[in-house]
Amino acid sequence: MKLLFLGDVVGRTGRAGITQRLPGLRAEWGLDFVVVNGENATSGAGLSAAHAKALLEAGADCVTLGDHAFDQKDMLSFIETEPRILRPLNFAKTAPGKGARVYEATGGRKVLVAQVLGQVFMKRPFADPFSAIETVLKTHPLGGAVQAAMVEIHCEATSEKMGMGHWCDGRASLVVGAHTHIPTADAQILPGGTAFQADAGMCGDYNSVIGMEKLEPMRRFVTGMQKERFTPANGEATLCGTYVETDDRTGKATRVRMIRIGGRLEEARP
Ligand SMILES: [Fe+2]
Ligand SMILES: [Fe+2]
Repeated sequence: MKLLFLGDVVGRTGRAGITQRLPGLRAEWGLDFVVVNGENATSGAGLSAAHAKALLEAGADCVTLGDHAFDQKDMLSFIETEPRILRPLNFAKTAPGKGARVYEATGGRKVLVAQVLGQVFMKRPFADPFSAIETVLKTHPLGGAVQAAMVEIHCEATSEKMGMGHWCDGRASLVVGAHTHIPTADAQILPGGTAFQADAGMCGDYNSVIGMEKLEPMRRFVTGMQKERFTPANGEATLCGTYVETDDRTGKATRVRMIRIGGRLEEARP
């Protein structure tokens, strides 16, 4: 299968990048399944129901959230009505929605998607992501119940992301990081056959501080004081992500490529 994961969509610019480019990329690259992280798509904080629908209509088969999952309050109810949206698996047990699901890709093939939050340097404490994903991978074996499995490790630390990659190696088609909004240059296939990239990067304006207008973040760094809210930067988006080809029989990765399309970063295609 040909799978694509796109990192955190930030604000209006990120949404426009997805709606303008994703339909064409789906067709051009013959994609079988696309996951898009939408946790910053609405004003940089959370995802509204309306914007979730726009990402799905543009060609996302599944939209993941993250630590900002419910910053937009209508997502609390919308996620219960829209199975194509996932929140972190290791959120509170009482949180609405689910953190892992099996979806149907082209040709009726089954794709497991799961998202876990890391614990290192995160603002709030979350339950152990390693034991959370373990349960899901055990019940959805690659080459058995599912033909592919995509795991998003949503956190700050590259060390924790690499740890998660190796933890799932041989049991997922892809382990990819999100949340830092900056793509790492380490896409590879791990020894057991799992494609890995520590962070996919964001879909947003890179003339910014991680997607936000740079003035307020710089002011806070320089003065230690807060004056305004963060607002998403409005220049052209670069769509960043990870592309993987998998073997349907084993579910393992046969090829992985870092993706950067449009905007300011050097272009990279499959
Ligand atoms: Fe994010
Ligand atoms: Fe995040």
